[in-house]
Amino acid sequence: MEDTIKIGLCGLGTVGSGVFELLQENADLIRNRIGRNIIVSRVATLDRYDNLGLDLSKTQVSDSVDDILRDPEINIVVELIGGKTIAKKIVLESLQKGKSAVTANKALLAEYTEEIFQAAYRSKGNLGFEASVAGGIPIVRSIKQGFSGDRIDKFMGIVNGTANYILSAMSSEGVDFDQALNDAQKKGYAEADPTFDIEGIDAAHKVIILMALSFNGLFDFSQLYVEGITGIESIDIAIAEESGYAIKLLGCAARTENGYEGKVCPALVDKKNMLAAVTGAFNAVSIWGNFVGETLSYGAGAGSHPTASAVVSDIIETARLMIAGMDNPVPPLNTGIDALTRQDILPMSETESEYYLRIASDNAETSVDDILKILGDAAINLKSMEQKSGSGDLSLQKYLILFTEKSNEEQMQSAIQKLNTLSVVAKPVKMIRVEH
Ligand code: HSE
Repeated sequence: MEDTIKIGLCGLGTVGSGVFELLQENADLIRNRIGRNIIVSRVATLDRYDNLGLDLSKTQVSDSVDDILRDPEINIVVELIGGKTIAKKIVLESLQKGKSAVTANKALLAEYTEEIFQAAYRSKGNLGFEASVAGGIPIVRSIKQGFSGDRIDKFMGIVNGTANYILSAMSSEGVDFDQALNDAQKKGYAEADPTFDIEGIDAAHKVIILMALSFNGLFDFSQLYVEGITGIESIDIAIAEESGYAIKLLGCAARTENGYEGKVCPALVDKKNMLAAVTGAFNAVSIWGNFVGETLSYGAGAGSHPTASAVVSDIIETARLMIAGMDNPVPPLNTGIDALTRQDILPMSETESEYYLRIASDNAETSVDDILKILGDAAINLKSMEQKSGSGDLSLQKYLILFTEKSNEEQMQSAIQKLNTLSVVAKPVKMIRVEH
């Protein structure tokens, strides 16, 4: 094998330029670690690159990914262009040709799970996707290697930096939603379409990948319950704070007696839980294994350098496999292909949670009995009930704040519909799940 491993980089945006920079800046260190040079011999990009401050003198730049795919000297193809059309072609064609593919593309992996992973299992190449979940946190490698002896029963994580940045800024600085989103976009955290961040879709892509790794199955993205943070109001953040909780966009999944639960939704997290202290664009994932118990991984979940760190870790892993001369690399998921099965996600109506309910009522005192009757009829037990007043413009508004015991989601949804028909309930009831 030659002294130099040549890679092809598709995309020179936020993450692509970070990868280029890292490989140049840490070139000596990487050479010491693996005994080879890794160089970016080709880049494919449609964007301007002369203003990025990168030394591209030893790199051939073109606007066609085919130049990379056709180059027999390139054995590692890095897909960082995003989207699902050309990106899919790059990953599939690389794997079909026996090249290794490294991608940060969670949408591609989550929406074409079966096609991509089947191709990866059949390929002599490696598929690296560390950067697809939780940016710089090596969570994929933790599950595949660190917890490879454990049965993973549950995970719960903050896996979208932009949403966490927005919720944190709304809570600590009192800025409004739009300003916080704008800041996150300027810092390069947000997706090309920020709807993916604020509507929970980006987090959902990551949850599907984590479920595949954790539960040894292929899950259907369309079965996952997804709710974003656009309905979170400052009043809920303030009341949650007073009650000892932070509001976070969580991705959660669990193995239960009835099947696999999976969801993305805003949730109240007890401030004693370390996830509540994860602010800004940081991510954190708690994983429960049957022997290791509860673990927590924390780090930067978005941005050029942290994500580049994850991409390069896959490049180095692949380079090490090549140096070792492995024909059949480690399976891309946490299982051999024979044990890999398609699994369903339980419908949300069959799951259980604890709930926070904010009921706006001009006349809360007299309406409590009606409210309690509806909840009682739905077998929803309360942990606490408190009356609060709004502040500022809402100072005349009275709220009844309820925290429930674990209850069935379908019963809860139907109780909320009934509560909303009560004449004393001034506005639709606000429900946010409480997760532990
Ligand atoms: N838009 C994503 C986030 C980028 O904010 O987390 C990293 O996947």
